[in-house]
Amino acid sequence: MASELRFDDQVVVVTGAGGGLGKAYATFFASRGAKVVVNDLGGSFKGDGNSTKAADVVVDEIKAAGGQAVANYDSVENGEKIIETAIKAFGRIDILLNNAGILRDVSFKNMTDQDWDLIMKVHVKGSYKCARAAWPYFRKQKYGRVINTASAAGLFGSFGQANYSAAKLAMVGFTETLAKEGAKYNIISNVIAPIAASRMTQTVMPPDVLENLKPDWVVPLVAVLVHKSNTKENGGIYEVGGGHVAKLRWERSSGLLLKADDSYTPGAILKKWDKVIDFSNPQYPTGPNDFLGLLEESMKLGPNEQGETLDFSGRVALVT
Ligand code: NAI
Repeated sequence: MASELRFDDQVVVVTGAGGGLGKAYATFFASRGAKVVVNDLGGSFKGDGNSTKAADVVVDEIKAAGGQAVANYDSVENGEKIIETAIKAFGRIDILLNNAGILRDVSFKNMTDQDWDLIMKVHVKGSYKCARAAWPYFRKQKYGRVINTASAAGLFGSFGQANYSAAKLAMVGFTETLAKEGAKYNIISNVIAPIAASRMTQTVMPPDVLENLKPDWVVPLVAVLVHKSNTKENGGIYEVGGGHVAKLRWERSSGLLLKADDSYTPGAILKKWDKVIDFSNPQYPTGPNDFLGLLEESMKLGPNEQGETLDFSGRVALVT
């Protein structure tokens, strides 16, 4: 049997660790030897209010089990204070789990600026602020592990969650760039789209489904990704929950290449639309650079064949 993954003497910051997934991470890493900063603002799942209780309960639980943990009650928008807690209490930071989150679900028709801004602040700015504050320590010690938290809502869209979907897909782009910038300093960043029973999902999923979605079942993948033995899986996007773990990647159709001159019209694209959506010979791009080589190919082509013309008369278009 493989020996269990240990995190002795490593310092783990878990944001939003007062409940749900964050609590499961915090208690797990403490049980495997890590020193844990249990951050939680202690508000409602919609982001109202605050309390020290959520974080304190988890810290007490970890200590009662013989582990080491300190509480932090700051909002992730003040990420530097959370990282400061790790440095003051334990002298370092090795692993950052950007997990804190809220929901402001509402149909797009009824969405207010406040619904939008609050979601962006907690998920996007909060993850940025924590990672930004941890980054100099990671670089200096040439070691760091980051998990950001996306969602199926971000990857695929979800009714009533335009704000949350936008914020969660932002976590993917954020992670991809951190992965590229951090690689040479042994800073590994990955992003997960979890599914688990928590106060966030208890009103949207039936009880029998929730029973099979313990937060504890998201933890093992996170442990694998942030362990020091993982030096290869960097910039990965994972779906995880209820015993299922899978990696996602971008797929590009074989695509259409046309001459980029005056004959490059909407009609010319329409004429060969089947090529744009042809996934029979896909590519799996991991960066933007291979796209540039196509420019040269395009120059060599002859003028494009024209298809039907599009008629927009009677419509009003706003171009911003
Ligand atoms: P949860 O509501 O149980 O836990 C989130 C925690 O974050 C709460 O304890 C809350 O007090 C804390 N928090 C909220 N705003 C904060 C802030 N500004 N600063 C510090 N702490 C703050 O929810 P759950 O389900 O455990 O969610 C964890 C993460 O996983 C979230 O980012 C969520 O969006 C994401 N997620 C969860 C899914 C699920 O199926 N449970 C599905 C997809 C994504």
